[in-house]
Amino acid sequence: MTRNAQRGQFVTLEGIDGAGKSTHAAWLVEALRARGLTVVATREPGGTRIGEALRELLLRQPMAHDTEALLMFAARREHVLQVIEPALARGDLVLCDRYTDATWAYQGGGHRVSKSLIADLERHVHAGCNPDLTLLFDVPSSVSRDRLERMRALGRDLDKFELEDAGFFDRVRDAYLERAAADPSRFRVIDGGRPLAEVRAELARIVSAL
Ligand code: TMP
Repeated sequence: MTRNAQRGQFVTLEGIDGAGKSTHAAWLVEALRARGLTVVATREPGGTRIGEALRELLLRQPMAHDTEALLMFAARREHVLQVIEPALARGDLVLCDRYTDATWAYQGGGHRVSKSLIADLERHVHAGCNPDLTLLFDVPSSVSRDRLERMRALGRDLDKFELEDAGFFDRVRDAYLERAAADPSRFRVIDGGRPLAEVRAELARIVSAL
């Protein structure tokens, strides 16, 4: 029996650490399910056993910046093959917390990994499997830093990326905003510095269009 022949929608969430992305992710999943959509919520790096094992290394171990890009894409390859493509083929909505825009922003912008390496890996790993919609939660790096410091004060152990300095987060943010400006039909830039209720109201409008 063929269930749903129509390809599902692929939605990604992006933003610098502390932009509020994770706070809104769970709410978004519920809002989408309430609209009757079958949602596969997943994340990068991660989403598969190999991806989660690589995540541990990527977030904890110091390594060369190009190694970081290679491992991000290795995790992504498994994720695309095992989770994302099958879900889209079933007609499900895939809500993925970070994807290749994060590699362009963090490794390309933040760590200055060569753009041609990232472009080659992107082509190999998921040519043709790109997000339909990307929600970019945007805050200045000073807001991100304050939020991360508050989390740390509450006992949260910050990871390797969260411990980077303001210059790194400025470069990551600039790279995200550049990508959003270059592809306005895919990106929605959401001002993550506003009160929670305002951000939710904007997300509700976006969800109602899906
Ligand atoms: P998270 O904290 O949003 O789960 O993301 C994990 C960290 O991994 C975050 O600091 C961003 C980083 N990251 C990259 O540097 N490159 C990537 O391609 C991805 C997917 C995440």
